[in-house]
Amino acid sequence: MSRDDLPLVLGIETSCDETGVGLVRGCTLLGEDVASSVEQHVRFGGVVPEVASRAHLEAMVPTVRRALDKAGAAPSDVDAVAVTAGPGLAGALLVGVSAAKAYAMALDVPLYGVNHLVGHVAVDQLEHGPLPKPAVALLVSGGHTSLLLVEDLATRVRSLGDTVDDAAGEAYDKVARLIGLPYPGGPPIDRAAREGDPGAIRFPRGKWGDGTYDFSFSGLKTAVARWVEDAGRTGEDLPVPDIAAGFQESVVDVLTRKAVDACVDNGVEHLVISGGVAANSRLRALAEERCAKAGVELRVPRPKLCTDNGAMIGALGAEVVAAGLPPSRLDLATDTSLPVTMPLAP
Ligand code: KG4
Ligand code: ZN
Repeated sequence: MSRDDLPLVLGIETSCDETGVGLVRGCTLLGEDVASSVEQHVRFGGVVPEVASRAHLEAMVPTVRRALDKAGAAPSDVDAVAVTAGPGLAGALLVGVSAAKAYAMALDVPLYGVNHLVGHVAVDQLEHGPLPKPAVALLVSGGHTSLLLVEDLATRVRSLGDTVDDAAGEAYDKVARLIGLPYPGGPPIDRAAREGDPGAIRFPRGKWGDGTYDFSFSGLKTAVARWVEDAGRTGEDLPVPDIAAGFQESVVDVLTRKAVDACVDNGVEHLVISGGVAANSRLRALAEERCAKAGVELRVPRPKLCTDNGAMIGALGAEVVAAGLPPSRLDLATDTSLPVTMPLAP
């Protein structure tokens, strides 16, 4: 098949607070658009599911139109529709899946319900080309922190480890709140940490050297809370940059150490880091340093592709179509806890 013969896949993502639409052919992103409701959640310090669902409903059709325009494509050019079937917020997923069913039916093309988490890994192909097999993936987002062994994006993804409590992004968001930085906490902590000394306060490293690929961030969050409380009692000014830098160092130290160990232990030469937290500048720098030392090739998509978007779902959809897997039925259900081992929803 030549490049132009590959099917044009319309990817739709609505698992959390971003309405994302991407048009993908093979490993090429032709156009995408994202509408975010994050501003509507800021004053609540976290995503309000009902608010997110309504925002998806309002943004869906205009976002599809903008993505098609950017791709220079007409609706009739679309060969298949892929949509996030899970995991995610129930109401939010439902909006995307309902829209995808309507588009697939109206355009008379097959529908594929795919896994949001595997999409975060698949998106890297749009930037760096086909993913070598096997690869290890470190998936770090607001809702998930997992180490995966990816033998085939469409058919074989194994879980090596997971967080036992908070996700890495969740830890950023909670700690930001503790030290008076806005939601979502990742970007402001990333920025504040650049002004601080990562060695000034040494915070604990959860599940360090425990022989597993699992993570834990709730002890770290409690340690920061205690530090803030103590400072409040003595009336000291909070050294926000140093706390941010110390906290961040603890998170990225464990993430990168375990990810590189997973590659070395499994004889895998390629590591992909993706999900919202992969936008973190210190995580990217330390991963580069440690991968270079271990002889592992690192792939990190550009920050815009790391956070939730429709291109990632189009990318995984294209893989699933290429693998010849059967399309989903039109009664495809959403699954708020779809396991990462299922790239295509049952
Ligand atoms: O993947 P994502 O956009 O949504 C989920 O599927 O969860 O990830 C959102 C998370 C938030 O917790 C946010 O604070 C975090 O990614 N994040 C960052 C950075 N940018 C976003 N964390 C650390 N450093 C960043 N620069
Ligand atoms: Zn995500």
